[in-house]
Amino acid sequence: MSIFKSHISQMGAYKPPLEDRDNHQHLLLDFNERTLPVSPAIKKALIDFINDDQLQVYPAYGDITQKIADYCGVKPDQVMTTNGSDQGIDLIIRSASREGGEAIIPGPTFAMYHQCANIENLNIIEPAYSRENGFPKQAVINAITDKTRLIVLANPNNPCGTPIARDDILEIAKAAPGAAILVDECYFEYTRQTVCDVVQQYPNLLVTRTFSKTWGLPSVRLGYIISSKDNINALLNVRGPYDVNQLAVVAINAALTNPEYTQEYVKEVLGVSKPMLEEFLDTRNIEYWPSVANYVWVFFDSPSLVEQTLKKANILVRPKMDHHSRLGLRISLGNKQQTVHLIDTLTSII
Ligand SMILES: Cc1ncc(COP(=O)(O)O)c(C=O)c1O
Repeated sequence: MSIFKSHISQMGAYKPPLEDRDNHQHLLLDFNERTLPVSPAIKKALIDFINDDQLQVYPAYGDITQKIADYCGVKPDQVMTTNGSDQGIDLIIRSASREGGEAIIPGPTFAMYHQCANIENLNIIEPAYSRENGFPKQAVINAITDKTRLIVLANPNNPCGTPIARDDILEIAKAAPGAAILVDECYFEYTRQTVCDVVQQYPNLLVTRTFSKTWGLPSVRLGYIISSKDNINALLNVRGPYDVNQLAVVAINAALTNPEYTQEYVKEVLGVSKPMLEEFLDTRNIEYWPSVANYVWVFFDSPSLVEQTLKKANILVRPKMDHHSRLGLRISLGNKQQTVHLIDTLTSII
């Protein structure tokens, strides 16, 4: 007999396929990361911190919350930092769950929501996204009951890149006042769509964001939650005092002082690389989901063959199944040069 809750022993781990990933060998188009190094200012800040012999001291966070609040245009008491947005997702789901509760998680989607909802033993209802109709708003609203504790609105969703209209988010928040509405804005810098300006008016709205994607800092793990002051105060009771590490704070302080490197990257990905890949797919009649993010979910005739052949050419992409058990490849976008290389390689395969 397990010493743990029986449903936890029976769960599977969330294990992203990290084996053999090497950014010096591979073009990494499999995790929606930034494909270029971060700015020299960030590297220098980290090296200076280490050389200043501060590693043996517990983290001191200074004004990082204020800086993030300024970046988001909200008040500092509406923000808390987390160990990646994964921790923000976990804290919200953990704090909002109750025995016998239900979670509405439109899918297919990012695995962490299911992982955390399963840890809390929530019953998961999964309305389906579709390529033609996008976000299943009506199905989400129809699924709301008095047991609903959580509704996940990934804006945009991963793996499909589908956005959710602001009015739809607010309509759902009003329709489920007793549920936590987790709006995951992990890819905000690509979409510029947010509801963080109305968190004080909607007490059940909780936004998660991250420095892992456009900012290029997934290795140091810094995310944040934006919500009403009361919600933030409650969630701060759940987070540990040192869950965020000091190197993350040093790196993000430098990143926020010098955000141009991020803006330039976003401009190239959305303005050059994305149209280039879409044109390639359109001219060959290869199906893909319309995306507002830095990744495109593509349905080749022989997806596994394409994936394996790309891998042999040192390009990694991510296989993801749709609701009809059809395998698609989620391809992250890099800069222009990397996209030309991807397209040349795909051309030789297809
Ligand atoms: C939709 C979505 N949310 C959250 C995350 C997790 O990001 P973080 O590195 O901040 O934990 C990811 C990472 O792929 C994601 O795609």
